[in-house]
Parts: sequence; structure tokens; C-alpha cells
Amino acid sequence: MPVTPESIAPPDSAALRACMSRFATGVTVVTFAGDDGPRGATMNSFTSVSTDPPLVLISLARRARSHDQLIDRPFCVNVLGAEQEPLAMQFAGRPGSAEPRWTPGARVPRLANPLAWVECDPWRSYDGGDHTLLLGLVTGLGHRDGDALTYAWSRFGTAAEAADGIEHLI
Ligand SMILES: Cc1cc2nc3c(=O)[nH]c(=O)nc-3n(C[C@H](O)[C@H](O)[C@H](O)COP(=O)(O)O)c2cc1C
Repeated sequence: MPVTPESIAPPDSAALRACMSRFATGVTVVTFAGDDGPRGATMNSFTSVSTDPPLVLISLARRARSHDQLIDRPFCVNVLGAEQEPLAMQFAGRPGSAEPRWTPGARVPRLANPLAWVECDPWRSYDGGDHTLLLGLVTGLGHRDGDALTYAWSRFGTAAEAADGIEHLI
């Protein structure tokens, strides 16, 4: 397909957001030991990167209050289940949306009963414009059954648990 001037013009941020809002993701809360106790921030920029070594990626806004504490600390990516939307709001700057509960005895602060969790040590970080890209080396993980919380069109939704996936193709 030819590259047209229209397709290479730098997008304004509203156009970029409109495009990206059509990309459906899961929803996570990234938790870590903050200076004053356990902290978390809602993030949908989570993706798996590598199995050898096992690496995952999150993209953290430089303006986030978590930024300077999180960039060189162990963290846990808590993948949220369908019923955990209030936690997503709680950790997206809407305190009072949910009463967070934590897993006792975890090496890295972790929410109670996430749909899945991936615990990481900091591995590398990279400049990502107004974000910092954090690669984490996976040190622990777990999961349970249940429907997933999703985010698309700037709205939360759900994805039903399915028995017959296409994991053999990926
Ligand atoms: C669905 C959703 C996804 C988000 N994804 C990210 C993300 O990937 N990276 C990020 O830095 N902020 C993301 N945010 C915004 C943060 O959750 C929000 O700025 C939060 O207040 C950060 O907390 P802090 O300022 O205490 O660090 C997202 C918010 C929502 C609702």
C-alpha cells in the first residue's frame, strides 16, 4: 500500500487517542512497595515481551506520582477480573471506589485474588517520550479461573473465560 502524505502526517494527540481507543486490552493494577507502604497504579499498557529470559513491559507516565518510586523497584502486575472494575478506578485516581485488599506475605505487594499476577524485578528501562518503558524480569506468577476485565472505546467491558483458545498458534 502506498504511503500517502496523510498517513505520515504527525497525528495530533486526539487522533492518536481515537485510534488507540479501538485497541482492546485487559486491565491491570501495577503494585509495588512505595515509600509509605503498598501502592498501585492502573495500567493497560502491559504486554508480554520474551520467554527467554521471561520479560514483560509496562509503560509508565512520567507525570504519574508513582513514576520516580516505581522505575527501579520490584513490581507486580495484577490482571483484573471482570468483577474488579472498582479496583481499576481506585488506582486510576478515584480513591473511595474500592477498599483494596492485599495478599499477606507476598515478596512484592500484590492485590488479593487478581485474575492473574506477574511479579517482576526491574530489568531495563527506556525513554518512551512522555512515558518510561519498564521491562520487568518475571520472578513469580499465578492465575485463577474467571472472566477478564477489558478496556476499549474508553470503556470497561468483560471477556468471558473460554476453554478452547488458539494458544497453539502463538
Ligand atoms: C484503563 C486505564 C489504563 C491506564 N493505563 C495507564 C498506563 O498504561 N500507564 C500509565 O502511566 N497510566 C495509565 N493510566 C492512568 C493511571 O492509572 C493514573 O494516572 C493513576 O492516577 C496513576 O497513579 P499515580 O499518579 O498514583 O501514580 C490508566 C488509567 C486507566 C483508567
